[in-house]
Order: sequence, then structure tokens, then C-alpha cells
Amino acid sequence: MDLQRYNTFRVRAQAPSIRVIHSVEEANSALHQLGAPPYVLGEGSNILLVDDLDRPVLINRIKGIRVVNEQDNTVDIEIGAGESWHAFVQWAVEQGWGGVENLALIPGTAGAAPIQNIGAYGREIADVLLRVSGLYFNGRRWEWLQLDRQQCRFGYRTSIFKQELRENFIVCGITLRLTRHHHDLCVSYWSLKKWLEQRDIPNPNVQTIFRAVVDIRRQRLPDPEVLPNAGSFFKNVFVTEEQFQRLKGQYEDLPVFAQGGMYKVPSGWLIEKCGWKGKRLNDVGTYARQALILVNYGTPNGRDIYHLAGRIMRDVYDRFGIVLEPEVQIWPHHYRDNLYQEYAIPLPAHRARENQL
Ligand code: FAD
Ligand code: EPU
Repeated sequence: MDLQRYNTFRVRAQAPSIRVIHSVEEANSALHQLGAPPYVLGEGSNILLVDDLDRPVLINRIKGIRVVNEQDNTVDIEIGAGESWHAFVQWAVEQGWGGVENLALIPGTAGAAPIQNIGAYGREIADVLLRVSGLYFNGRRWEWLQLDRQQCRFGYRTSIFKQELRENFIVCGITLRLTRHHHDLCVSYWSLKKWLEQRDIPNPNVQTIFRAVVDIRRQRLPDPEVLPNAGSFFKNVFVTEEQFQRLKGQYEDLPVFAQGGMYKVPSGWLIEKCGWKGKRLNDVGTYARQALILVNYGTPNGRDIYHLAGRIMRDVYDRFGIVLEPEVQIWPHHYRDNLYQEYAIPLPAHRARENQL
């Protein structure tokens, strides 16, 4: 069965079977029949299919949004994993509730949001998440498991679901805590701050921030329906003080953001510096307004995107000595490490560790 309509890069790949699940009961019975863990998909907005899959695919469409607890200033909401993330954000903003407005217009499902700890414009889902519920494969059978925020071990674009629980946990629902009246608004991200300053809005509310984020994203990011893509293909890079000083000495215009004792170097800038911004190679390329986003002009073959990624990684490594790490999940899984090998780039230490888990 072809997965082309189930991934936003719109590339073709076959799966032995595709099953759409609408409830925890359906998930349970499908998993029971399958035995071993399948590949799990939400809306396919963060994956690159390079080849056919050798395991079945489960598509999560568990719906439902339910307020489970209300206090003076907070509201706890349980969201089915198959709900659209952006539709939920829009609904929460309409209620006047705060906490997810900076995460507007991120494609995909609510259930996928904790996998890579989605983040944008200064906020991450980790900031508002109370717990994740789902089915865990203990090596023999599937069991119900709930993890609180601490147990999810969130980091920049990572969580326990990409490490110890990789491939053996299926998110069925997430619970978030939002604010009702007194909001902890976050407007420090450079483009959001600029948007508000240009319009002379010193005291924005939840709705204004939502509108600003939607507007900025529409200007800067390609709509996958028009130009297939999976958002940022690579993660941004964190360097030490020493590496930062060396780079700054070489490149005065290096944009750097200090964060938690490290320095964040935008991968988009590194890629742009290597001359890749807006470049097109046959049917693939990088987006003209954002070099971090790889776009598909019409190839049905995920390998074309994979090879473009490899060439970019190689160029960035040759020029800066920095290893770019894909943010997008590359399937089948062994292609993830193959990319480093094929382009003779050292595997990041934490990747090697994860492989031993
Ligand atoms: P999929 O692509 O279907 O899956 C992604 C991963 O999650 C896979 O490993 C899959 O196995 C796993 N997964 C999905 N659902 C489940 C489940 N129920 N249980 C267990 N595992 C599951 N991301 C950001 O963080 N910030 C952004 O600003 C951002 N902007 C984007 C802009 C564009 C234009 C696009 C196309 C993508 C962007 N992304 C961004 C990436 C993407 O939207 C997020 O990663 C999103 O959470 C993926 O959701 P999905 O349902 O499409 O997941
Ligand atoms: N930049 C360039 N050239 C480019 C792109 C970016 O020089 O072509 C530099 C600019 O200096 C800019 C800086 O990079 O100041 C940051 O750019 P931007 O604000 O667009 O954000 P980003 O770091 O490229 C990250 C996330 C996005 C998220 C935005 C907003 C990652 C990998 N990407 O992008 O998330 O929406 O910040 O918070 O962290 C995604 O994960 O798919 C995604 C789109």
C-alpha cells in the first residue's frame, strides 16, 4: 500500500499494510494482532520515506478534546492523539486560554507533538504538558502507560519517545495545562518581537500572539499543500563557548543565541553560507526564504531528498567542521545512520549511544 498521501513530502513508498485507528480499543486490538511494534504515523509532516517499509503502518486518528480539571487560573485538557494540533491551538485561543498560542500553525497531530517536543517562537509543548498516555510494548505485550512531564525527559527536539521508548510507545492522548486569565506570555523571540514592534503593540494578548505567529509563519514557511516539505529538515546546532569564539572570530555576521550555557547557531545560516539557500537540483531544493527547509518540486522518490540532505551536511561539515543532524525522521530507520556513512560524516556521539538502547 502506497504511503504517498500520508506524508507531506509527497514521496512514494510501500508498506505491507496500513491501518487507521480511531480509538484506544481499536489500537489495542490492532496491536494485539500485529504483535511487534508497527510504524506509527500522524499526518506524516516530520518524516522522509527513503524506501519501502518492512513493517505495517498504524495511522493514529483517535479524536476527542475534553476538559478534565478546572481551577481558578488553570484548565487541564485531554486531547486525543489524532486531533489536529493547529485546530486545537485555534480552539484554545478562541476560549481565551493561554499557553499554546506561540505553537500555532505547526502541522501534524497532537499525539506527535511530544515525540520531538514541538517548539516555535520561544515555546515548547513541554512548557504546558502534564502527561502523555498510551500503549507501551514491554517486549511481550502491550500495556497502558502514563508518563508525567518529568518522565518524558524533554529537551530541544527530543524526548524519551525518541530514545528509550523509541518505536515501542504509541501515544493515545496528551493532557495539557493552560491558563484562563493570568497568562505567562512569551514575546521574546526575535521575529515575534519585531512583528509586534512594527505594529506598535506593547501589550499583546493571547489572540494577538496567535495572529502574529500565523502571519510570520505564512510569510516564512512553505505550505506543504503547495510545495511539499517537512518543516526544518535539520536541527539547529548547539556549540560550546570555545567553538562559538572560534566561529565568531571567522564570521563576524554569525547569528548566535545564548541558551542554557551553550550557544545556538542557526543551521539555516550555515546552509545559506554554503550557498544552498534557494538552490534547486532537478526536482528538489531548499526554500528560497528559509534554507533549513528542503522542498520537493515533484519527485516521487525520497532518495532525491535524502541525497540533497547528505550533500548539504557534507558541505557544512567541510566548511565549519559542524555536523548537522536531521530533525526529520528518516524511514526505514537504518537510513538515518547510513546518511552519515554515505557522506563520510562522523555520527554524533548521542546517536551512537541511542543505537545501543
Ligand atoms: P508524523 O510526521 O506522522 O510522525 C513524526 C514522528 O512521530 C514519527 O517518528 C512517528 O512515528 C511519531 N508519531 C506520530 N504520532 C505518534 C503517536 N501517536 N504515537 C507515537 N509516535 C507517533 N515542528 C516543530 O517542532 N516546530 C515547528 O515550528 C514546525 N514547523 C513545521 C512547519 C512545516 C511547514 C512542517 C511541514 C512541519 C513543521 N514541524 C515543526 C514538524 C512537524 O509539524 C511536527 O514534528 C509534528 O509534531 C509532526 O506531527 P505528525 O502528526 O505529522 O507526525
Ligand atoms: N537563518 C539564516 N538563513 C536562513 C534561515 C535562517 O541566516 O535561510 C538564520 C537567521 O539569522 C535567523 C535565524 O536563522 O535569525 C533563525 O531563523 P528562524 O527564526 O526562521 O528559525 P529557525 O532557527 O530557522 C526554528 C525551528 C522552527 C521554528 C522556528 C521559530 C528548528 C530546527 N527549527 O527555525 O521549527 O518554527 O525556529 O521558532 O529548531 C521545525 O522544527 O520544523 C520548524 C519549522
